[in-house]
Amino acid sequence: MDGVADLTAYGAAVAKSVSVEPWSGRPAPRVAPAGIGMLNGIGIQNPGIDHWRRDHESRLKDLPVPIWGSAVGHTAEDFARVAEGLAAAGVTAIEINLSCPNLDGHLIALDPSLSAKVTSAVKSAVDVPVGAKLSPNAIDIASVASACAEAGADWVVLTNTIWGAGIDVETRRPVLSGVVGGYSGPPLKPIAMRCVIEVHRAMPDLPIVGCGGVVSGTDVVEYLLAGASAVGIGTVHFAEPRAGRRILREVDRLCRRLDVARIGDLIGKADLS
Ligand SMILES: Cc1cc2nc3c(=O)[nH]c(=O)nc-3n(C[C@H](O)[C@H](O)[C@H](O)COP(=O)(O)O)c2cc1C
Repeated sequence: MDGVADLTAYGAAVAKSVSVEPWSGRPAPRVAPAGIGMLNGIGIQNPGIDHWRRDHESRLKDLPVPIWGSAVGHTAEDFARVAEGLAAAGVTAIEINLSCPNLDGHLIALDPSLSAKVTSAVKSAVDVPVGAKLSPNAIDIASVASACAEAGADWVVLTNTIWGAGIDVETRRPVLSGVVGGYSGPPLKPIAMRCVIEVHRAMPDLPIVGCGGVVSGTDVVEYLLAGASAVGIGTVHFAEPRAGRRILREVDRLCRRLDVARIGDLIGKADLS
């Protein structure tokens, strides 16, 4: 992304999730448009942590933004091993991807005690701050967030993609090879917003990264008002790699219009009475 985006617009950039061993991901088709959103079923293709370090470690310090690593795996031990490798490579924080929707029904973030086990293993393995990335598919996301916080998560990311699917009417084939994948972009925003509101209500002191469908400065301010203290931006970059700088300008303009002196003054300040 460094070649196409303006990374200086961001507080941090989160690298693609990495596992212990290489994962080949799913066969094509792995992405498809769906309304004004996007379906993906990449299956976390990645070269494994050792190869990832060989490819990227020496370049991390030259990038104009702090890089966070993202760990994925099948067991708590996997997550911890990846986290150790990411921390040794010099990432400034680690997200635990408990919520990848493309691992054939194996969604850790549906289970509070399993999520806590993974979080605790990662926290014991590294000294850098650790966030748990959760799923909008969870029935009770506040319980999962609470379990992760008790296990030591420094923040939660709300949210990853939601399970989705589509059919090509010409071929009658699924638009993703894995049939079910993750749905992201603007239609995800109200769902992720609901998650932010529920978790912030239950745990007002737990930092939240709001994520899902952000395309404008207004979206950012909405997440902050709901209780997020930072915002993650993904899908919009496929259409507009330099979206970050525009969104930042829009936040600035909106804050001036709303007479908000410090962006932090917005956090959790929605009137939900
Ligand atoms: C093509 C694609 C690949 C993704 N890969 C990852 C990943 O490796 N790890 C992860 O935690 N989230 C991954 N995500 C989820 C995004 O980080 C983000 O949580 C989600 O798409 C919602 O935000 P958005 O609507 O701004 O994209 C991916 C999303 C897309 C569209």
